Amino acid sequence: MSIAAALEERLSLAGKVAVVTGAASGIGRATARLMCTLGARTAFLDRDPAGLAAAVAECAGLAGEALAFEVDLADHKAIEVCFEGIVARWGGVDILVNSAAMNVSGASVDYDLETWQRVLDVNLTGLFLSCRLSARSMIARGVGGAIVNVASVGGLSAGITGRANANPSYRASKGGVVNLTRALAVEWAAKGIRVNAVAPGYVRTPMVARLTDDPAREAAAAERVPLGRFAEPEEIGWVIAFLAGEGASMVTGQILPVDGGLLA
Ligand SMILES: NC(=O)c1ccc[n+]([C@@H]2O[C@H](COP(=O)([O-])OP(=O)(O)OC[C@H]3O[C@@H](n4cnc5c(N)ncnc54)[C@H](O)[C@@H]3O)[C@@H](O)[C@H]2O)c1
Repeated sequence: MSIAAALEERLSLAGKVAVVTGAASGIGRATARLMCTLGARTAFLDRDPAGLAAAVAECAGLAGEALAFEVDLADHKAIEVCFEGIVARWGGVDILVNSAAMNVSGASVDYDLETWQRVLDVNLTGLFLSCRLSARSMIARGVGGAIVNVASVGGLSAGITGRANANPSYRASKGGVVNLTRALAVEWAAKGIRVNAVAPGYVRTPMVARLTDDPAREAAAAERVPLGRFAEPEEIGWVIAFLAGEGASMVTGQILPVDGGLLA
C-alpha cells in the first residue's frame, strides 16, 4: 500500500459529519478547519457570530463543507435545536469535538456563585448535552462514532500553573470533563462510540491572551514546559483529528495530555 493510501485509510474523514463547538476561535477553530481539510462536512458551533463567519470563510475550497451554527452552550434548549438542525441538514453526527469553554479566575473564598454556575453550565453541562445528542444520532443510525472532549491539564492537576492562578470553577469543570469522558466511553462502547479527551497545556489562543500579550509572562510560563514553548492550536487539532479517526479505532476512555511535557 502506498503512503498516501495508508494515510487516506486511517486519517480521511470524507463522508463524515463532524460537529465542533467553540469553532469561532483558538483550538476549536483550528480543529474544525482541519476536519474540513480531511473531508468532513463540519458544523461550526459558537456564540460568536463574527468569529464563526471568519472561521467558515477560511475553509472555502477545502475538501469538506463548513457551516456555521450560532448557539450559546449555556442555553440547553438552544443546543437541542441546533443539533436537530444539523441532523436535518446532514442526516446525523459521526464526530463531535467539544472545545468551547470559559475560564473566570477568582479566589475560592469569595468566588461569585452565579459565575460558578455559568462556567459549569457551559463547560460541563453544555458539553454533556452535546455528547448525548450526538450519541443519540449515532445510536439511532447504528454506525457508532467518535467524541473528543477538550479537557485541560488543569483537569488533571491543580498545581501545574501555580498558586497565583486560582480558578475553582474551571478546574472543577475540567475535572468533570475528564471523568465524564471515561464514564461515557464505558457506557457507550457497546454502541461503537469511542469517547476520548485531550488535555492541552499552554496553547496560543485568546483564552491565554493575558500571558501571550506580555512576552515576560509568556516566557515565564514557557519555562515550565519541557518543550519550552506554547503549542499552536493546530498542534492540538492534529491530535484531536487522530483520536476522531480510524487510526485510533482501539482507543477509548483516554485523556491524552498535549502539553509539551508539563505533566511528565
Ligand atoms: N489555550 C489554552 O492554553 C488552553 C489550555 C488548556 C485547555 N484549553 C481548552 O481548550 C478549549 C478551547 O479554548 P481556546 O484556548 O481555543 O479558547 P478560545 O477562547 O480561543 O476559544 C473558546 C471558544 O469557545 C466559545 N465559547 C465560550 N463560551 C461559549 C458558549 N457559552 N457558547 C458557545 N461558545 C462559547 C468562545 O466564543 C470561543 O470561540 C477550551 O475547552 C479550553 O478550556 C485551552
